[in-house]
Amino acid sequence: MEGNVLITAEEIERRVKELAEEISRDYQDKEPLLVCVLKGGVIFLADLVRHLTIPVNMDFMAVSSYGQSTVTSGQVRILKDLDTSIEGRHVLLVEDIVDTGLTLSYLCDILLARDPASLKVCTLLDKAARRRVKVPVDYVGFEVPNVFLVGYGLDYRERYRELPYIARLEAEPEEE
Ligand code: PRP
Repeated sequence: MEGNVLITAEEIERRVKELAEEISRDYQDKEPLLVCVLKGGVIFLADLVRHLTIPVNMDFMAVSSYGQSTVTSGQVRILKDLDTSIEGRHVLLVEDIVDTGLTLSYLCDILLARDPASLKVCTLLDKAARRRVKVPVDYVGFEVPNVFLVGYGLDYRERYRELPYIARLEAEPEEE
């Protein structure tokens, strides 16, 4: 996979630090709740929070949209909901990638219905060329091309999440 690296570990680290600085400034005195979407977002969240200079809370949601497939079905299912109420809280949704936007759009609808004080979105990667629904993304690490990516949380059939860099999958998977 090393030959197909698109974003190196060093580039990721530098950008995650910048995002953390921006978020720390924007959420000063707000003690936001960072909501991480499992599983892909967990690596990004873990690195991001360690560069923040403000106190935050964290919670996790698991949704399933793709299953074993590499193309979206457009159907999103909640597998694990938040542990805490978000009413009146400043919520920052943390994602590894926004692709079609369907997952995010669904999640935002659900979370907004719970009356947070604010809801913003932070994604490490933005694959804007694939967008099917308009979704607001407030913090973006990198714009990425429309190729299948793995590493730093992103998987192909549950593999490669542990890679410290982001790479293009060598053989593009067949659409299932
Ligand atoms: C990925 C990613 C987003 C979603 C983005 O999750 O983490 O949640 O797909 O795609 P979309 O914009 O087309 O909806 P995935 O369903 O692959 O689960 P995972 O994080 O557990 O790998």
